[in-house]
Amino acid sequence: MAIASTAVRELLQELTLEEKVQLVNGAVDPEGTATGYVPGVERLGIPEFRLADGPMGVRAGEKQATAFPASIALSATFDPKLARKQGAAMGREAKARNQDAVLGPGLNLIRAPHCGRNFEYYSEDPVVTSAFAEEAVSGLQSENVVATPKHYVANNQETKRASIDVDVSERALRECYLPGFKAAVDAGAGSVMTAYNSVNGDFMSDHRQLVTDVLKDEWGFEGYVVSDWFGTVSTVGAANGGLDLEMPGITREELWKMFGMDVDDADDGQVLAETAEVPEGMPDPSNTEQFTEPLVDAVRSGAIPEERVDDMVVRILRQMKRIGLFDDSRDDGQIKDANHRTLAETIAARGTVLLKNEDILPLDDDADIAVLGPGVREAKTGGGGSSELEPLHVVATADGIRERTTGDATVERGIPEIEQISFFGGNEDDEDDAEPEPSLDAAIDAAANTEVAIVVVQDAATEAKDRESLRLPGQQDKLVEEVAAVNDNTVVVVQSSGPVEMPWKADVSAVLESWYPGQSDGDALASVLFGDVDAGGRLPVTFAREDDYPTAGSDTTFPGEDGEVQYAEGLFVGYRHFDATDADPIYPFGHGLSYADFAYRSVEVVDERQVQVTVENTSDCDGREVVQAYVRAPETDDDRPIRELAGFESVRAPAGESVTVAIELDDLAFSRYDETEGWINLDGPFEVEVGRSAQDVRLGTTL
Ligand code: GLC
Repeated sequence: MAIASTAVRELLQELTLEEKVQLVNGAVDPEGTATGYVPGVERLGIPEFRLADGPMGVRAGEKQATAFPASIALSATFDPKLARKQGAAMGREAKARNQDAVLGPGLNLIRAPHCGRNFEYYSEDPVVTSAFAEEAVSGLQSENVVATPKHYVANNQETKRASIDVDVSERALRECYLPGFKAAVDAGAGSVMTAYNSVNGDFMSDHRQLVTDVLKDEWGFEGYVVSDWFGTVSTVGAANGGLDLEMPGITREELWKMFGMDVDDADDGQVLAETAEVPEGMPDPSNTEQFTEPLVDAVRSGAIPEERVDDMVVRILRQMKRIGLFDDSRDDGQIKDANHRTLAETIAARGTVLLKNEDILPLDDDADIAVLGPGVREAKTGGGGSSELEPLHVVATADGIRERTTGDATVERGIPEIEQISFFGGNEDDEDDAEPEPSLDAAIDAAANTEVAIVVVQDAATEAKDRESLRLPGQQDKLVEEVAAVNDNTVVVVQSSGPVEMPWKADVSAVLESWYPGQSDGDALASVLFGDVDAGGRLPVTFAREDDYPTAGSDTTFPGEDGEVQYAEGLFVGYRHFDATDADPIYPFGHGLSYADFAYRSVEVVDERQVQVTVENTSDCDGREVVQAYVRAPETDDDRPIRELAGFESVRAPAGESVTVAIELDDLAFSRYDETEGWINLDGPFEVEVGRSAQDVRLGTTL
């Protein structure tokens, strides 16, 4: 039972059972701006409570918001302070839009490279995930909104996400999949959203062991647990399992009315799959009204103790109180801070990873350029699904580059636009009629008659559907090959949700990964291409051949068979797998080039959880380096990964200068979870490997 403050306890005494129940499930927002809405209890001055998506920007109805880069672009900066800044900016925008909770950050580990929502998540590594989770939550909540780390837990694929059962060991859960959520809770997250899937046989909305025993009792979580939308699969199981708030909670009658349909002739599987391609990945909309009359009846029958409902209410009221809903007047709805635009551009630029550069980048200011690719006349603001939003400001890819160069710039799509699934009807044919059909010849001609050819390629990931392959969709590989054949100075920019195959890699001079750069697309890309900003991004996820990933090889490990997916790789997710096998990644975790050159001069042990590293920028241009520290535990019988990232720091170094940086080492790298004894601190000695990727270690020391 969460300890309620006086005001909340007094309110609780006043509430009837029906009023308590009204506070623990959703309704239709009369203002039509919130994704989730709790009407409050006017009689007692308990205000309305609004919840809005999503991790990359605040969607409040049709209103515009800053479209920040994809979460994977944020983590590619390896600078969690930027997550705090973005969180605070989003918190301000939520407040300005009268929203009280933001349905983010997304924290699920990037286990399968095909997962349709990898762009909404941070990394294959739990230490990177935890660092960003902590700062994103702190940033959001510093502006008096409730952060909602999601989706708790092991929602690592979209295929059959609302029915799949994840078969995962307790140890892998504890050492890989749970740490990000624990970091979010330790940072004070006011809520946690349960996932659709089940874990080891129990649906997450009803998962007593993970929701009550671990999240609430062991970690001391005092906020409310909210279900994913239509993800509450029962009344008694969910309530007694620890769920506190059912969303969206609206009746099926109300749901179908929102879609202009009559509930009597409704086909439940269809409503949420407005776009026909995603029915398998959508939840069952009949999972609603669990926490309404059935909850009252269950309390009356004794199936659910009223104290449990009291606890639900207290957890929700305490968050309302904490963010000032009981005393402050609401904000005026204006987004005041234009700095968000600058911040969005900074994050997109810093998150851009320079994978390959054969002395062609940075470009001269007066470079003549052809900007080619199916999406270059738009900004790649995000993927499909609940994270979509209407940007406040947009810089198309080509526009940013055309603005930046003083040379000539030609722009050609070359091939038809890539189809992007949208949940909000954004995938209407947005090519304006005036534009002529794309012409491959025109693109090749433009490439042949300019100094530098920049080909921008994209994938098109979406919630509720996993990518069928890691190949780029459409004719993009062909476009790159044809351009590279006529111009030796070909630069490829990949705007993707995660790893993609690059069959043309050897044929081009440079490759950049810019993920989904958000609304500032063109400006951010230009700032990196022309060297205004060093390419400071590093890979938070391994790029490898599709068949070399640990999830490849059998349907049982991805996307599952007979309703179950086996996390057979255990702890060996991402680089931990590649370290343990002889399959070499194409670009390893942590990889990214800088325009400067860095020598690793020394590493000193400060104490058992900190090392100090000195790196020297030996080049004549300022640069940024992400210093990474990996820990190798002594060889034991314990089947542990060879090395685990323990800490990292992104640091700027002016030309010719040395910088010394302290790196905190996460406990996770020095402990293991034993299914009977719990957490065990490993005995040393530990090797600490310092370098610039999981496969590029420069210095070592012993702890
Ligand atoms: C969606 C997503 C979740 C989102 C929620 C509300 O199905 O899984 O991330 O916040 O429902 O849109």
